[in-house]
Amino acid sequence: MHVLLVAGARPNFMKVAPVLAATVARGARATLVHTGQHYDEAMSGVFFAELGLPTPDHALAVGPGTHAEQTARAMTAFEPLLAIAEPDVVVVFGDVNSTLACAIVAAKHGAAVAHVEAGLRSRDWTMPEEVNRVVVDRVSDQLFATSADAADNLRAEGYGGERIHLVGNVMVDTLLTHLPAARGGPTLARLGLTAGGYGLVTLHRPANVDDEVVLARLLDALGTVAAACPLVFPAHPRTAARLRGRLPTGITLLPPAGYRDFIALQAGARLVLTDSGGVQEETTVLGVPCLTLRDTTERPVTVTEGTNVLVGRDPDRIVAAARAALADPPAPRRPALWDGRAGERIAEILIPGPGPAGSAGPSGTRQRIPTERTLVNTYGEQSGAPM
Ligand code: UD1
Ligand code: UDP
Repeated sequence: MHVLLVAGARPNFMKVAPVLAATVARGARATLVHTGQHYDEAMSGVFFAELGLPTPDHALAVGPGTHAEQTARAMTAFEPLLAIAEPDVVVVFGDVNSTLACAIVAAKHGAAVAHVEAGLRSRDWTMPEEVNRVVVDRVSDQLFATSADAADNLRAEGYGGERIHLVGNVMVDTLLTHLPAARGGPTLARLGLTAGGYGLVTLHRPANVDDEVVLARLLDALGTVAAACPLVFPAHPRTAARLRGRLPTGITLLPPAGYRDFIALQAGARLVLTDSGGVQEETTVLGVPCLTLRDTTERPVTVTEGTNVLVGRDPDRIVAAARAALADPPAPRRPALWDGRAGERIAEILIPGPGPAGSAGPSGTRQRIPTERTLVNTYGEQSGAPM
């Protein structure tokens, strides 16, 4: 069995790591492709080093660009590679442009496609990631959901139950693996911080940082919060250039943090303010109060069963929610199956039969996953020809 895994941007690397490890442990051949959507040491290299990821078998050097440019470059680079690699299954992660590009190419090539983090829906079509999520699920054969609400979304859209697998959250696998070292590491001391003595900020959604007026209002709100609780802000490259020279007092700008540093910063924070998807999930597991500066979330389980509060972009609302969270932090809870074993569950489904390496069955046996990419409408009729 040959499993090809695609990673491209920062939030992919911590998701691919546990699935790759579990794939290899089950005796399958694994090929790792890095599209190069993210390429800086701080956005890519540091994660390979810290997460113990191998050098990618193929690096596509896609780089930045408009959505069409970036997606097209990933597609044209991935297509010939796939024709040579001929994997049994292509595994894509999350909702970034690299995920979309490689899922479409794999589906048209006739490869089986597995989507890790399927079924998340913000229902906000202005988010490029929402377009990616819906399209990737539509061309995927196996849909691995992190939470029951995501599996419900897929069923409501007509996906057959045999393709939907509620497996838990691979991002949490990686978090739990690295948390002890992160907590015990030098991050806070190096930055002159003490646990519980600061808040943490990340912002990179175009809707928040590309619009001058919205960004100014968010910075006003953050400045008010910082008067009560100093804030550290490791800034995504999209955001960093826009912040220079205009940060309110009490906010310390940092470069994008490495994985362990960032986990340590989250774990020690009194409060996190973010528009990241993954950070909503990690703060839930860490039991750290999280305010999400967006109007929607594709991860509602972090609100219903975690520490996340959706506060939108209105400064007064953000400041009021921050005061409430500082005064009365929510009790930590954790969604079902966010237990550190999601990668293993995925590998067991992708690579049926043999157990971990050593007890492996016949290698090289092609075990194609069924490719019935049909939807069932609400009347129980099938729609959409198999692709
Ligand atoms: C992308 C994803 C977003 C994800 C985010 C995680 C899409 C549509 N967006 O957004 O879902 O939440 O990654 O971080 O796929 N840049 C650098 N160095 C890098 C990478 C990017 O300087 O290593 C700069 C470039 O100027 C680039 C800009 O950041 O133009 C944006 O990068 P891009 O990958 O296009 O989108 P993100 O905002 O990172
Ligand atoms: N992260 C990191 N350093 C940072 C910011 C985030 O290591 O400076 C990690 C974070 O812990 C999580 C992932 O990156 O594991 C989330 O990625 P990001 O916020 O870029 O993307 P999103 O989840 O919003 O798609």
